[in-house]
Amino acid sequence: MLTQKQLDEKGLKVSLIEHPLVQHKLTLMRDKQQSTTGFRDLLREISWLLCFEVTKDLPLEQRSIETPVQAMEAPVLSGKKLAFISILRAGNGLLDGMLDVVPSARVGHVGLYRDPETLQAVEYYYKVPHSMESRLVIVVDPMLATANSAIAAVERLKQGGAKDMRFVCLISAPEGIAAFNKAHPDVPIVTASVDTHLNDHGYIVPGLGDAGDRIFGTK
Ligand code: PRP
Ligand code: URA
Repeated sequence: MLTQKQLDEKGLKVSLIEHPLVQHKLTLMRDKQQSTTGFRDLLREISWLLCFEVTKDLPLEQRSIETPVQAMEAPVLSGKKLAFISILRAGNGLLDGMLDVVPSARVGHVGLYRDPETLQAVEYYYKVPHSMESRLVIVVDPMLATANSAIAAVERLKQGGAKDMRFVCLISAPEGIAAFNKAHPDVPIVTASVDTHLNDHGYIVPGLGDAGDRIFGTK
C-alpha cells in the first residue's frame, strides 16, 4: 500500500485518508470471510469519514440565531445543495453513508459496467439533478481500477454541465489514479487506499474483489 509521501513522490494527485479507523475498517472489509451485511455496514461507516474529508472546504456564510443564552452570528453552509453522483451499481454502497452525513444532497446516478473483455465502460443509465453547473458534484464509486468507468462518468457529467467535481473512492490503483489525473486534472480524488497494482483482469491487487458482488451478495 502506498503512503501519501510515496504518492507525492510519484506525482500522483490524490488525497489519502490514513485515519486509523478507516484503515481498520478497510482491513475488515478486504477479508474474504467478511459477510455481505458486515461488508455493507463497514462501507457505510467508512464513507462517513470520506464524506467529511471531501467536504472539508465547503463555503460557509454567517446566519443570525439565538441560543438559549444570547444572540450570535453562526456559520451555515452556503450555496446550492451538493449533488452526489453514484456510479452504479457499487457506488450506491458509498452513497448511503454520504447521505447520512449530508441528507440534503441531491442525488444522481450514472449506470456503467465494465466490459470484462475490453475493460471499457459501457453506459446504460443517466439521471442527474438540475442545475449541475452551479453545484459541487461529488462522484462516488468504491473502486478506481483502470479508471475507465470514473473517467467516462466524469466526462458525461461535464457534458451535462457539471463544472466543480470531486471523486471519492475506497480503494484505488496507481494506474487508475495516473489515468484519471491525466483525463481530468481538474477533479480531485479522495481515497482510503492506493493498492499496489492491477492484475491481468483489471482487478486491484490486493483489493477486495468485486465491490458490487460483495455489497449486494451477487456471487
Ligand atoms: C466496478 C466498480 C467501478 C469499476 C472500476 O464496477 O464499481 O465502477 O468496476 O473499474 P475501472 O476503474 O477499471 O473502470 P463494475 O463494472 O464491476 O460494475 P458494478 O458496480 O455494476 O458491479
Ligand atoms: N472493480 C471491482 O469491483 N474490483 C476491482 O478490483 C476492479 C474493478
